[in-house]
Amino acid sequence: MRKGKLGRGVAVVGAGMSKFGSFPEKTSRDLFVEAFNEAVGSVERGLEARDIQAIYVGNFSSDLFEGQGHLAPIMADWVGLVPRPASRFECACASGAVALRQAIITIASGLYDIVLVGGVEKMTNLPTEKVTDTLAAASDTLYETTAGITFPGVFAITASAYFSRFGASEEHLMRVAIKNHNNGGLNPKAQFGSIGEIMKRRLERARQRGEPMPTWRDEMDFIHDPRANPVVAWPLRLFDCSPVSDGAACLVLVAEDLARDFSNCPIYAVGTGQGSGGALHTRKELYVSPAARAAAKEAYEMAGVKPDDIHMAEVHDCFTIAEITATEDLGFFELGRGARAVEEGITALNGTKPINTSGGLKSKGHPVGATGIAQVIEIWQQLRGEAGQRQLPAKDLCLGLTHNLGGTGGTCVVHIFERR
Ligand code: COA
Repeated sequence: MRKGKLGRGVAVVGAGMSKFGSFPEKTSRDLFVEAFNEAVGSVERGLEARDIQAIYVGNFSSDLFEGQGHLAPIMADWVGLVPRPASRFECACASGAVALRQAIITIASGLYDIVLVGGVEKMTNLPTEKVTDTLAAASDTLYETTAGITFPGVFAITASAYFSRFGASEEHLMRVAIKNHNNGGLNPKAQFGSIGEIMKRRLERARQRGEPMPTWRDEMDFIHDPRANPVVAWPLRLFDCSPVSDGAACLVLVAEDLARDFSNCPIYAVGTGQGSGGALHTRKELYVSPAARAAAKEAYEMAGVKPDDIHMAEVHDCFTIAEITATEDLGFFELGRGARAVEEGITALNGTKPINTSGGLKSKGHPVGATGIAQVIEIWQQLRGEAGQRQLPAKDLCLGLTHNLGGTGGTCVVHIFERR
């Protein structure tokens, strides 16, 4: 079969996001407008909003979270883009990356030159148990939901299977959590800070309430304490889970030949891949995602690069085990070696393959539809040398990858970006 390629190149020339977190006073509209304004404002050589020709929105379930379906034209209206065509894309937690992929394909086809792609989710309107039920709608209702499976449950059995086959342990997962929280502590848009900061806050709260003072020696001690870090679905604990979040993110995409008209430092989309997977019982191994492997293969082939060429990646760590298996699905590490790579510091901010420098879903937050777009914003900032305190050494930093997983692995999208 002929290898896929884009009909013409596509570049990111603007990027912006709201802070991620819990914002009772804000709706999807407010969050989207914040992200849009920041994205348009970031286009150095100027962009008239009216020049945007189409708007693509990733969103999982505004219907259930906010009682508002048909979200895309509403977002277009709130950012002043009607009557431009506006479409919503739903592929569970991969909704953002699927919207992005379609925007890239649209520009590559020659239909439009300038497209806005955004993602948004407002999850905290519902109590946690209702959020869990809403998210469970992204699994297979015939085979998975009816068996009582929830997302923490799915990734808990994945972790158990991984432990049993490769001899990894809860401590490997805890190291992912500590790493990502430390990175999130350096990201002003992240929902949570470092575990050190969280420990300090908890100690202060205990002191104010006159409660017995905990005696944690360090972050590892804190994260081992079942009162600080209770089990959610064994072996996953609170700090293994991404949170329930509100947030939005937007990108401005243009045809490659126009990129320098808008930006001093465009970031080029050089590979896009998407794969699908069946329900859990169809998998040979729970810790291998056929969708992710197919998406990665397509993206690598299109970009003409190999896993070793990638300098940094934002991967879908909806649960800590998912970061480990993603790094294996992407070919960064051999099957069963991802946990060891975390232990050896390879995936740390100062490691040789930094993963989730933004804090990942774990610490930055996971407003489902916004996640796939926010991952690209981290790549954009890092490749342009704009990542502040978490900036990777700029030397040789030119290829970044995003991996966005939907449902129990029903969808995976991989994108590769290049700074030239
Ligand atoms: N990681 C770390 N701390 C978290 C957290 C998380 N994921 N979620 C909440 N917290 C903290 C809160 O900040 C709060 O801390 P505080 O007391 O210092 O203020 C405390 O834990 C309790 O928060 P609360 O909102 O009451 O937690 P909860 O028990 O209702 O929800 C989870 C916790 C893990 C069940 C929930 O975040 C969850 O369901 N996560 C998974 C979401 C998901 O499945 N997404 C899709 C993935 S595919």
